[in-house]
Amino acid sequence: MLKTAIIAARAAGEILRRHFGSSLEVDETTRFDVKLRVDKLCEEAIVSILRQAFPAHAVLAEERGSEGDSSHTWIVDPLDGTVNFFYGIPHFSTSIALSLEGRMEIGVVYDPLRDELFACERGRGATLNGRPLRVSAVREPEDAVVAVGFMKDDRTVSRGLRALSSTIHRVRKVRCMGSAALDLAYVAAGRFTAYYEAGIRTWDIAAGEALLLEAGGRFSSVETGPHTHNVFASNGLVHEALAPGFPLNP
Ligand code: IPD
Ligand code: CA
Repeated sequence: MLKTAIIAARAAGEILRRHFGSSLEVDETTRFDVKLRVDKLCEEAIVSILRQAFPAHAVLAEERGSEGDSSHTWIVDPLDGTVNFFYGIPHFSTSIALSLEGRMEIGVVYDPLRDELFACERGRGATLNGRPLRVSAVREPEDAVVAVGFMKDDRTVSRGLRALSSTIHRVRKVRCMGSAALDLAYVAAGRFTAYYEAGIRTWDIAAGEALLLEAGGRFSSVETGPHTHNVFASNGLVHEALAPGFPLNP
């Protein structure tokens, strides 16, 4: 199953590399977001690979929503960081996870421009391009680099801003990179110390959660709506010290 997820993530990565920087077909724009034809192309490629290998499994994917009913569900974000992709900012990823009765068994996050493949299977550790991954050893909040993401509805924006203003002076730096899947993969890889976002969707974080837990991190979340969560994730060592500044209650 991990091998198939990797094949699917690389297939999407190939499509993303081909289209990045070229003129893009926009399917839909809202005031704050954009949906590209390439999101759908990647999702079709991923889902057809997964379906061919595991026809009985269910799928939850950003563009198509929920399909099928099974204890095994593939959770797919074909392009995490669509706005970055659209503006030519070279930071985005493909995210694929397998959940077995609600627990993440497999996580793959692929950054096609850097050719970085983060992968894990529950109980077997996480890897970056085949090499074992570990969260950072940072213990003190003042040494922490914290990634923060923003959904655009008023409620989650004001929550994120409050969290930022209460913690920005306590940590070394805050980063707002635009791909939640990569934010979590970077915490797993020891690049970031922690990640926070209110109102983030399941497909953005499923594979990242699996990676982080396998790399020795800690993941706290509260479901705030259908496929929607408030999340604070860290290397574990700074969790108690920083979590109060990043509240999860709905
Ligand atoms: C977005 C990214 C971003 C996060 C947003 C997400 P998308 O996903 O993960 O980092 O802050 O909340 O919507 O729309 O590019 O797939
Ligand atoms: Ca996404």
